Amino acid sequence: MIELEATVNGRRVREAVEPRLLLTDFLRHGLGLTGTHVGCEHGVCGACTVLVDGLAVRGCCLLAVQVDGRTVETVESLASDGRLNDLQESFRRHHALQCGFCTPGILMAATYLLGRGTPTRDEIVNLLSGHLCRCTGYAPIVDAIEEAAG
Ligand code: FES
Ligand code: FES
Repeated sequence: MIELEATVNGRRVREAVEPRLLLTDFLRHGLGLTGTHVGCEHGVCGACTVLVDGLAVRGCCLLAVQVDGRTVETVESLASDGRLNDLQESFRRHHALQCGFCTPGILMAATYLLGRGTPTRDEIVNLLSGHLCRCTGYAPIVDAIEEAAG
C-alpha cells in the first residue's frame, strides 16, 4: 500500500491505496464520488473525465497514486448549496442530457474549456469529439456549452 494525499473538491484526503488502483476506482469506491462515470475504461468514451490541477484528464487512464500532492475536481464540485452552476443550468435548459451517463465527463471537459476563455462553436465540437454520447445527438450539448460561454 502507498500513502496518497490529495485535495479532492476542496477537501484534503489521505488514504493508503494499492499502487495499481485506478483514479476512477479511488474516486468512486474510495471516496464515494460516484458522479464520475466509467464506460470503456480505456480512454475512449470520456465518461470518466475529471480535472487534475485544472487539466481535463481521463480518470480511467490514471493511477490514483499519480494524483498524490495534486488537486482533483469531479462533477460533484460544480453545484454548490444544492444549486446547479451556470453550465449545468444551461445543460438543463437545452435538454443536453437524456440518460446522463456521459454528462459528468462532458461537464468537466467543458469546465476546462470555458476556463481557458470563450471557445468558438468549432472548438466546442472538437472537444466533444473526445466524448461518446448515445442519446442526445450532440447538438443540444454544443448549444448548452456555447450559451454558458456567453
Ligand atoms: Fe475512461 Fe471511457 S471510462 S475514457
Ligand atoms: Fe445518454 Fe449522453 S445523455 S449517453
